[in-house]
Amino acid sequence: MKTNEHDYYSELANWSFEDIDYTSEVFTNWIYEDEIKKIVNEHTKILDLGTAAGEKVLKKFPNCAEILGTDFSNEMIKTANKNLLQSGRKNISFRVMDNLKMDTPDNYFDLVTARHTVIDPVQIYKTLKEGGQLLIRGVDKLDCWSLKRMFGRGQAYHDVKPISLIDYEAILDAGFKDVELIPLHVIEYYKTKEDLYALLVKTPILDEFSEESFNEYERKPIEKEIFEKYVEQNTTKKGIKLIRRYYGIIGKK
Ligand SMILES: C[S@@+](CC[C@H](N)C(=O)[O-])C[C@H]1O[C@@H](n2cnc3c(N)ncnc32)[C@H](O)[C@@H]1O
Repeated sequence: MKTNEHDYYSELANWSFEDIDYTSEVFTNWIYEDEIKKIVNEHTKILDLGTAAGEKVLKKFPNCAEILGTDFSNEMIKTANKNLLQSGRKNISFRVMDNLKMDTPDNYFDLVTARHTVIDPVQIYKTLKEGGQLLIRGVDKLDCWSLKRMFGRGQAYHDVKPISLIDYEAILDAGFKDVELIPLHVIEYYKTKEDLYALLVKTPILDEFSEESFNEYERKPIEKEIFEKYVEQNTTKKGIKLIRRYYGIIGKK
């Protein structure tokens, strides 16, 4: 059955990886959550775009004046509101909003965060106060490249321009200052093949999500033989190896 990104995430309705057992080795001295902590104080108002079920906000974001988490999936926001009640945290709210049709007030937020989601830097610029900051983390074209090559498909597999460069240029074009693009190199080790399989089922790594254009795609089942071959070739003492390529971008209004 054909689907699009909205339905894909609505069916998922929970973006938690707590059940997946893996370790990571981080090779770049830039950690998204730490960068947020450096910026935030008790007066900061934060907008978190593509917040999903709000886990990152509820568990990793520091206390501050206000946090609004938004997502275009109703189901994600329902789960986020349930998680909020259980967390007991204050000054946080969640609501539905499309990142590409933002309706937040102009010149209002001190910080806009967006992790692994689509952004429109022009709309983000408008909703930020003068001197406010944008902080994003994304999954780049070469993420899990050896795995995607084996399957001959995957997120951004056929894209010509890497998403990091598309975002970087769009952020500069929107008028942001002091813009920095930081490549993030990480190696993950999955404890068992079931853990790696669970990751592939829960994420679009092997799906034909293009970062250059929005289109519908057909979710294919994971071919067992190719998966077993990847596991065989990448099993190490530390676990089954998966090379990740993320990027971070910061910019100021
Ligand atoms: C990969 S998840 C990331 C969730 C969370 N930010 C995190 O880091 O764990 C991507 C989220 O972005 C949301 N999303 C994708 N496109 C969106 C759009 N145009 N507007 C709002 N949310 C969107 C999805 O519904 C999903 O919850």
